[in-house]
Amino acid sequence: MINIAIDGPAGAGKSTAARKAAEKLGFIYVDTGALYRTVGVAALRRSIATDDAQKVAAMLPEIKAELKFKDGVQYVFLNDEDVSKEIRLPEASMAASNVSAIPAVRAFLFDLQKNIAKNNNVIMDGRDIGTVILPDAQLKIFLTASAEVRAKRRYDELCQKGTPVEYDALLEEIKHRDYNDSHRAVSPLKAAPDAVLVDSSDMTLDEVVDKITELAKKLGDGE
Ligand code: DC
Repeated sequence: MINIAIDGPAGAGKSTAARKAAEKLGFIYVDTGALYRTVGVAALRRSIATDDAQKVAAMLPEIKAELKFKDGVQYVFLNDEDVSKEIRLPEASMAASNVSAIPAVRAFLFDLQKNIAKNNNVIMDGRDIGTVILPDAQLKIFLTASAEVRAKRRYDELCQKGTPVEYDALLEEIKHRDYNDSHRAVSPLKAAPDAVLVDSSDMTLDEVVDKITELAKKLGDGE
């Protein structure tokens, strides 16, 4: 199986670029952030503080998280309920960032991610895919962009949806999440030593997709 790992901070354009590249390559696109968001939602629903490691860990035996794929689209299930929409609510982002710092949560989601990659050609996107989940991935990409560019992209996206939020507030949230994700003790966000660094600050989405598919095609050439 061919495994491609894409890691990087929130808003670097990983998910859109990885999804499009997977489509071109005929691979399954796996968004692992959705799993952390699902655990975050499970905690929110129980009114558990998402940074309370003990309480969140104690909840884990009660939950089942699953990914399902239909026509190339990923759906995430919490105890057999489709929560794909709920995990995108803004409160789920910070909840996910908090629970993702808890070692028991990372251990809980480890096998699930590994098994998908064992049985499928995948482009898997996350924060620790190249470093922890798939250290033997044939291709690792670390996709980044400046915090300002990422905040601007998010700002434009929300304006298009008709739900504008202050740019400064978005920038602050992005910086806060970056800090959380890079400074946690377990599996912090960092590039694997053998990852290809791609800075998308001055690249269009299509350029990023081309870069990923170009690197993936080289694998087939045995380079
Ligand atoms: O990619 P995302 O924004 O949906 O991720 C939500 C949170 O989950 C993010 O704050 C970091 C965390 N995460 C992680 O720790 N490891 C991953 N492989 C994916 C996401």
